[in-house]
Amino acid sequence: MTNHLLLWVVLLAATVGALTRKWWAPHASRWAEARQIPWRWWLLEYPVLTVRMRVTWRQVCLLNGLSISRRSTARVVDGVMVRGVALRQSPPRLGLPHLTRTGVVVRIRIHPGQTPGPFLAAAQALEHAWRVHGVRVTSPRRGEVLITITAHNTLDDTARDVAAPTAGPVLVARVGRVDDGGPWVLNLRRIPHWLVVGATQSGKSTLLAAFIRAIAPQPVALVGIDCKGGMELGLFGRRLSALATSRPEALRVLTGLVTEVQQRMTLCWSAGVRSIWELPEDRRPVPVVLIVDELAELYLMDGTREGRDQSEQCSTLLLRLAQLGAALGVHLVVAGQRVGSDMGPRVTALRAQLGGRIVHRVHDEASAEMALGDLSPDAVAVAQMITEEEQGVAVATIGGRWVRARSVLVTTEEARQVAEEYAALTPDLPALAAVTFEKEGGAA
Ligand SMILES: Nc1ncnc2c1ncn2[C@@H]1O[C@H](COP(=O)(O)OP(=O)(O)OP(=O)(O)O)[C@@H](O)[C@H]1O
Ligand SMILES: [Mg+2]
Repeated sequence: MTNHLLLWVVLLAATVGALTRKWWAPHASRWAEARQIPWRWWLLEYPVLTVRMRVTWRQVCLLNGLSISRRSTARVVDGVMVRGVALRQSPPRLGLPHLTRTGVVVRIRIHPGQTPGPFLAAAQALEHAWRVHGVRVTSPRRGEVLITITAHNTLDDTARDVAAPTAGPVLVARVGRVDDGGPWVLNLRRIPHWLVVGATQSGKSTLLAAFIRAIAPQPVALVGIDCKGGMELGLFGRRLSALATSRPEALRVLTGLVTEVQQRMTLCWSAGVRSIWELPEDRRPVPVVLIVDELAELYLMDGTREGRDQSEQCSTLLLRLAQLGAALGVHLVVAGQRVGSDMGPRVTALRAQLGGRIVHRVHDEASAEMALGDLSPDAVAVAQMITEEEQGVAVATIGGRWVRARSVLVTTEEARQVAEEYAALTPDLPALAAVTFEKEGGAA
């Protein structure tokens, strides 16, 4: 009797389960979509933030020097000119806050005579006053300041949302997420060469791996220089057209690439075009991306004459590639802890050629200043605020402004899988035929 009852209960549970699943299946994806919508932010936190912004705006402006007095602050008293602080100051008008998925964007029309400078300096004060994760101040139009607010830290987990790599437009690689929730894209067609800077364990090699992962399905030749024994780039061995793991090997790879550039120059010259992109598709050579992990290893001076010669040669060849490569489809993505003139000759010249800048956590202001100071001075302070816990978070320059972003975390296993999956797409570069040691030997 008990057995029958048990069987009956199990059957009933199975039937109810099956019916529920059948009913639930069509709704499941809609429920998953609904869960992606930041309801709490939209319905509760956004209205509270808008009220808080309105209430605190006048005081924040007053304390941070963003208000001005419309009347002169100087008076003549008994024949003496006295200058004081005006009691009635008016802040610039705060525009209507536009809601985004991750925060708010608000436009401010600044008073005549004001510049965006004090607003940039007040970003941190605004974060505290409005209790938000981040405030970015830019000035896309004259007479206007744009404040982009990120309500919460959206860069907590980027590994979760970056889909499997797809071919996409050539030389455009999605490497992670920016702090407004959008994709973080490195576009080498727009900015041909990139510099990645950061202290040790800040996420440089991970970003390079995310880049290779994203670009691997594209018809692009990838060449690696990893003088830390190929530990990082070696994982992608079969997808790399060449990999140098020591400085003498790097010299051979760089020499081969300069030869490749010269051949492409001749090709363009004979076809009467100024870049490989103007050549017909069937005659266009494949784009090449040279990825260097730890630039300092190439510039290392070990006190020997041979070491000094190699360092000088590497630096000359890298600079030539950077100067000539862009139009000829040879691109550089270079990572290093520092890029100061103390490393060796021509480092600053090389840095000037690397127009795309990405700075992870740095130990000192000088490192951030070296990488960002010339292109985006206000990003220097932001880069210094990246904490040790925020591995992979970086400040990147994009079209004259900066963003905070985080690369996707590529595991060792995933890197190997990518190399295997796209190994057949690895082009052979004739100029590197003599230096393809790693593909045949060790690292592959
Ligand atoms: N985007 C990321 N998301 C999460 N964790 C990350 C991310 N990037 C890096 N990390 C973590 O930080 C560690 C160090 O990263 P990585 O090896 O890329 O640093 P690095 O700057 O190349 O260091 P080094 O200068 O010593 O080579 C990784 O092992 C990983 O655990
Ligand atoms: Mg590294």
